[in-house]
Amino acid sequence: MNIPEQYQIKSLLHQNNYLVDGELRPWSGESSEVYSTISSTQNYAPTLLGTIPTLGEKEALEAMDAAVNAYNKGQGLWPTMKVNDRIACMEKFVTQMKTKRDEVVKLLMWEIGKSLPDSEKEFDRTVDYIYDTIEEYKQLDRDNAKFEKNDGVYAHIRRGPLGVVLCLGPYNYPLNETFALLIPALIMGNTAIFKPAKFGVLLISPLLEAFQSSFPKGVVNIIYGRGRTVATPIMQSGKVDVLALIGNSKSANALQNEHPKSNRLRLVLGLEAKNPAIVLKDADLDLAIDECIAGTTSFNGQRCTALKIVYVHEAIVDEFNKRFAKRVDALKFGNPWESGVKLTPLPEPDKPQYIQELIDDALAKGASILNEKGGQTTENYIFPAVLYPVNKDMRVFQEEQFGPVIPVLSFKDINEPLDDMAESNYGQQVSLFGSDIKTLAPLIDTLVNLVCRVNLNSSCQRGPDVYPFTGRKDSAVATLSVHDALRSFSIRTFVASKDNAYNNAILKNLLESKASNFVSTDYIL
Ligand code: G3H
Repeated sequence: MNIPEQYQIKSLLHQNNYLVDGELRPWSGESSEVYSTISSTQNYAPTLLGTIPTLGEKEALEAMDAAVNAYNKGQGLWPTMKVNDRIACMEKFVTQMKTKRDEVVKLLMWEIGKSLPDSEKEFDRTVDYIYDTIEEYKQLDRDNAKFEKNDGVYAHIRRGPLGVVLCLGPYNYPLNETFALLIPALIMGNTAIFKPAKFGVLLISPLLEAFQSSFPKGVVNIIYGRGRTVATPIMQSGKVDVLALIGNSKSANALQNEHPKSNRLRLVLGLEAKNPAIVLKDADLDLAIDECIAGTTSFNGQRCTALKIVYVHEAIVDEFNKRFAKRVDALKFGNPWESGVKLTPLPEPDKPQYIQELIDDALAKGASILNEKGGQTTENYIFPAVLYPVNKDMRVFQEEQFGPVIPVLSFKDINEPLDDMAESNYGQQVSLFGSDIKTLAPLIDTLVNLVCRVNLNSSCQRGPDVYPFTGRKDSAVATLSVHDALRSFSIRTFVASKDNAYNNAILKNLLESKASNFVSTDYIL
């Protein structure tokens, strides 16, 4: 195997501690091996990358207690700390994180098969996200550094933390999306228990010391193990205030149902989606095909925002299919560090089999594979099959494939895709291709009520991270963006006092003495 020197796995990474209550606690109990589906040898064999602790309920509950104690009913050091001081901790963390770029990028490639440029982008985007979050928090704080008065009552309103957050991220963005939850949760003064995703877990190891040295003890606790063993008892304790999860609604529902008092539990969830592309008959076909290629195949379709179903007007479907299928076949498959590679090994060993089942089901129900390479299988991959014509009875129509297979449907009447979207369980985004404003205008007005982002002549995506990322139905709860995440992980809370000489003198003293971290009109620059 021709693996560049710097990307070879020369030693195993044995993660033999975990972060609880500010300590990297050694672990000598059971551990699980972490494999990459990428082979290091000529004859295919998964590559062993290292091991992670298989923690049990006891360790999980210790982590939870550490987070509960650090929050200390809202009286802990972290939730009461001056905004400036929490920002200083976050700045310390990101400075240390940046020194780990190479290690994290290499692990991203091996653990989840993400290409080198995309792995670098994931790391850099996360660093930018942290800096942007810090700036946004300063702005929020500046906006709140004031008193307002209504009906003779003064109010000093800020956003306060919610409490203890259980944070679970997905394998497709094991760094970026997890941090898109964790970072805003922490900066707002919450404490957290974080369990890395099933794949993309060792890449957190290089950051453990940065977490340990940057935040007060118990503020961030990082645990490993099976979700059922560690996350379930944490939820059952009833001590979690926020479930922050990017993944699927099944696990989110299962976990939230474990909480004894569902009314107390706040949810920040990014869930599954089946974003459609709708190609109208007057669409610029070159542009539509470019965007649909990116939308359906980036990271092998393993993105919640991926285009997972493509509707093409019947007048242009033959031309679209011919050109689209050719473009899919031209995509280069290879290992993540290979130059120009667009398709890469799938991290889930059973994914090729699952995708094959979807293809077989579609073929049995009347679809064909339009591209020559479609469905070609190797040990860790199945080449994207363009399936046409797809109908509602097929599994590939109903299920979120989250992998390399592309169902195409034709439509005559625009109400066909609109009705499908209205009936669907998902409601994240849509890509709409066309140019005639008389057609587009009413369509846009409908689509914005079916999903939360209408991408005009562009593929679906989450970024730029300043834009709201959310969804309807089974696709999301709460909104994430640099700005919105700070809101999602906090609640408005305020000090109010009737306007009279007695109260005003006290307020004045509070402000002048700078004794309170909450009652303050200081500007953070
Ligand atoms: O898995 C879903 C991600 O949020 C998609 O994000 O559009 O930046 O790839 P992206």
